[in-house]
Amino acid sequence: MIKNKSIMITGAAGFIGSNLTELLLKNSNFLILIDNFNDYYQGKEEQLQQILRNYQQNQEYELFKADLVELSTFDEINQDIDYIFHLAAQAGVRYSIENAAEVTYNNIVGSVNLFEYALKSSSIKKIIYASSSAVYGNPIYTPVDEEHPKNPISPYAVSKLCGEHYANMYFNEYNLPVASLRFYTVYGPRSRPDMAIRKFFSLMLQNKEILIYGDGNQKRDFTYISDIINGLILAGENDKSCGETFNIGGSNPISVNDLVSKMYEVAKAEKKVRYIDRQKGDVDVTHSDISKAKKILNFKPKVSIELGLENQFEWLLSC
Ligand SMILES: NC(=O)c1ccc[n+]([C@@H]2O[C@H](COP(=O)([O-])OP(=O)(O)OC[C@H]3O[C@@H](n4cnc5c(N)ncnc54)[C@H](O)[C@@H]3O)[C@@H](O)[C@H]2O)c1
Repeated sequence: MIKNKSIMITGAAGFIGSNLTELLLKNSNFLILIDNFNDYYQGKEEQLQQILRNYQQNQEYELFKADLVELSTFDEINQDIDYIFHLAAQAGVRYSIENAAEVTYNNIVGSVNLFEYALKSSSIKKIIYASSSAVYGNPIYTPVDEEHPKNPISPYAVSKLCGEHYANMYFNEYNLPVASLRFYTVYGPRSRPDMAIRKFFSLMLQNKEILIYGDGNQKRDFTYISDIINGLILAGENDKSCGETFNIGGSNPISVNDLVSKMYEVAKAEKKVRYIDRQKGDVDVTHSDISKAKKILNFKPKVSIELGLENQFEWLLSC
């Protein structure tokens, strides 16, 4: 576990960023937190402030409401930094189809600015870039290993892959110590409201119908948030991760239909499901081969879908 270090988290107010922030603060690190609090969904700023409230007295963090696409953002940072977890991005496959240029600019220029900033710092031990399983597109074979061809089918997925290319270029040409992690559909407390599990539970709680895109036989490799956070820390700490890319997933996909049945059991709600047309940008299956992360990082997902759903439902009830 990373302790007593100086760490930058971009996208700190987001789903994954806020969970990472909480854990790293608990472990006595000093955090530089950057987020532009975009309006993709509401409640992020308050959520982050709630976490930070416990750590205000001893100045254990600095929070910058700032945008990575603006170079001036980096002028404000005077601290030597050990680790950077780069999570900031405009997420959402469907949003990216409607707002292709915005997502492309935000995700690519933001990442390049961050890598350029990191090049100028001599203290940085590791940068972890958050990529996505979306880079693979529809798999040709499963489980999907890191060498699988990359056929992204949305502007979001292209932007994530482009970020990886930049990460690799900065590692190869400038020795920037950066590793990329391809996350598989993350769920759990503080998850984004546009994500299926949160959306479905919210509708179940209101006794409303849920809409499934396609026939519901599409499979997803859902990964619980604490397993993702663990993957981030392991990759940060490991000397062999520089210049590498790892799948970080639960490696145990289930169909959306099976997921929904399990969710109804947890929510104890009456089943109300309607099937509608499949959405552009959706892939048939995601299934991670995590052998590389197991071997090099000692990564092992621990949380079953049953336990993860219980936890997420409890969190939603407490909101
Ligand atoms: N959640 C998932 O299932 C999943 C899967 C694969 C990859 N990822 C990647 O993980 C990262 C975090 O995802 P998340 O689900 O927590 O998303 P999120 O939207 O909850 O968090 C992203 C945060 O980044 C901030 N942000 C966006 N652009 C910014 C910019 N230019 N400058 C500063 N802040 C900016 C947003 O305000 C937001 O708080 C993203 O890079 C995403 O692509 C997520």
